[in-house]
Order: sequence, then C-alpha cells, then structure tokens
Amino acid sequence: MRFDVVTLFPEMFSALTQWGITGRAYEQGLANINLWNPRDYCSDPRKTVDDRAYGGGPGMVMMAKPLEDTLFAIKAAHQSQNVASGPICLLAPQGEIFSQKIAKDILNYGNLTFICGRYEAVDQRFIDRNVDLQLSMGDFVVSGGELPAMTMMDAVIRLIPGALGDGDSAIQDSFMNGLLDYPHYTRPEIYENLSVPDVLLGGHHAKIADWRRQKSLELTLRLRPDLIKSARANGLLSKEDEQFLRTL
Ligand SMILES: C[S@@+](CC[C@H](N)C(=O)[O-])C[C@H]1O[C@@H](n2cnc3c(N)ncnc32)[C@H](O)[C@@H]1O
Repeated sequence: MRFDVVTLFPEMFSALTQWGITGRAYEQGLANINLWNPRDYCSDPRKTVDDRAYGGGPGMVMMAKPLEDTLFAIKAAHQSQNVASGPICLLAPQGEIFSQKIAKDILNYGNLTFICGRYEAVDQRFIDRNVDLQLSMGDFVVSGGELPAMTMMDAVIRLIPGALGDGDSAIQDSFMNGLLDYPHYTRPEIYENLSVPDVLLGGHHAKIADWRRQKSLELTLRLRPDLIKSARANGLLSKEDEQFLRTL
C-alpha cells in the first residue's frame, strides 16, 4: 500500500513511521509512506503557502498553486516509478465520516494521496480541480489534517496482510464482521474479586467461540443497535445469531 501525504508538518508522521505496528509495516516496506511539503514547491523566497480570505474574516486560506504543484510532483514520481496514481483525498470536516469499510476500500485502491488542510480552509478551486474524495474523522474540528490522516492510515495499515504479528487479530477487530468486539481477559484469574468467565478457562474451543459471538452480539445490540440492523441487512447474522438476539 502506498500513501503520498501532502502536509506542512511532515515531522508529525514519525508518530506513524517510528512506532508499533505501523512503524514495523513501514520498515518492512508493506506501507510505503511518502511525505510532501508544499513549501518545497513554492516559487517565492518566503515559501508562502497561505493568504487572507477574499471577503474578509479570520484565519488564512491555503493557496491552490503550491498544493497543485505538489500534486504535479507526486504524479511525476508515480510515473517515474511506474505506479498507478490512486484517488486524491482531502481531510475535511465536511467529508464522509471514516469507517472500517472505507479503510478496506482504501486498501483495495493500493495507492492514495492525502491532502492535510491547515489554517481556516483550502482554496475551493484546488478542491474543485483536484480532489476525488473528502474524508472526516467525525463531527468536530481539529487544527489540521495530519492527525486524521495518521489515524486513517493506521486503520488501513492494520489490514495489510502481514502487518500484524498475529494474522487473525484484524479479522477479530470490531466492525470487521459488522459487530463490536467481545470482551477480553488476561491473568490473573481473579482480580479484585472479579473472575474470568468460566467458559474461557475450560479450553473448549467451540464453546469459547459461541460465548464470544454471543457477547459480541449482546454488546453490539446494547451499545450500537444500528450495527445490528446493518449486519442483518447485509446478511451477516446467522439463524443462531437471530435466535440468540431474540432471547435478549
Ligand atoms: C482548523 S481546520 C479548518 C476547519 C474549517 N474552517 C471548518 O470549520 O470546517 C484545518 C484543517 O484540519 C483538518 N480537519 C479539521 N477537522 C477535521 C475532521 N473532523 N476530519 C478531517 N479533517 C479535519 C482539515 O484538513 C481542515 O482543513
């Protein structure tokens, strides 16, 4: 999976490239992360990337030209490396809210360019001319697109085959099968008078799998009934699941 990221703060991405699962995937070449600073593509000596908004108002606006020149450089790199250019995605509060499904879609693209906004906004003409999709982290505003981009990249990188130590863990994550994850326990067996459920200590794999599925269904019904509805609509619930849900 290749990511090209347009950002005024490339150093921030060391949080992704130097730590944990994403750092290992980066080192192993499973996640190819290329950082592009629009200041490097400015023609003026002051490396100006922003200016005041037409119509007035607070805050600065990212100019179209340095961003577009950065995209030209990215496309030239794709061509010289024989890589097909994927979609161009702007991080924006106005965008579609990111989800596990979108993470899977991005993995299937194989290549994605993220544009990290800063300041008050990005010049609309840049968006109209270049952006294929806009993604949001949720209905709140952060100071720049870097943290949303890193979060989304982490979610995609976890899905790359071989990126996780235990190949099964991504499959068992919340949302992968349309439901929330079941509860987990580790040693000691009794902690502050609270015991690990007996079924997990018995070593009976089928019973453990049933218990986990039921806990997953129970938790999802309680916390996110909307997910149960879509799992049902998408044919992800078995007859046994439906029988169990009726008992709750
Ligand atoms: C301070 S914000 C600009 C907010 C903008 N004035 C608004 O009200 O929609 C600067 C940049 O942070 C990023 N950003 C902020 N909140 C975001 C969110 N919820 N999801 C994705 N990106 C976000 C965007 O790239 C945005 O251009």
